[in-house]
Amino acid sequence: MKSVIVYWSGTGNTEMMAGLIQKGLENKGAAVTKAFVGELPDDEILAADLILLGCPSMGDEVLEEAEFDPWMTSVEGRMAGKTVALFGSYDWGDGQWMRTWVERMESAGANVKSSLIVNLTPEGDTEQQCVQFGESLL
Ligand SMILES: Cc1cc2nc3c(=O)[nH]c(=O)nc-3n(C[C@H](O)[C@H](O)[C@H](O)COP(=O)(O)O)c2cc1C
Repeated sequence: MKSVIVYWSGTGNTEMMAGLIQKGLENKGAAVTKAFVGELPDDEILAADLILLGCPSMGDEVLEEAEFDPWMTSVEGRMAGKTVALFGSYDWGDGQWMRTWVERMESAGANVKSSLIVNLTPEGDTEQQCVQFGESLL
């Protein structure tokens, strides 16, 4: 079972989520590659059994617009039939960016297994939630 985590993070919260989710996946025996968006070839990402994508809520309830969203746009035509899970950190919103993102991936034909949002930095209960999210995906 090969899993790939691709994420963007400005202040480290979504990056922390990525690390905790990786731990959960590894607890279940998955081989995990984790990389900042742009670091891994698309072919390697798209070949994974499970594709985890992480991005915080930015702009006004949208994906980060300089790096992550352009990459998302460039690969979403190849997402049909892929199993994905989405995650990210937010602050003052109500999670609208994640609802929009789930719909977008479903429209692209992806099988969105699950999604997780965490308010700011994962800690305590939300830290545990991230590990359990990773475990629950396998
Ligand atoms: C430019 C900018 C725009 C943001 N827009 C939103 C927003 O629309 N809704 C929201 O809930 N949080 C918003 N936030 C808060 C971030 O989602 C939050 O700080 C998050 O923890 C950042 O994750 P990161 O540490 O992985 O970069 C914004 C933050 C920045 C810097």
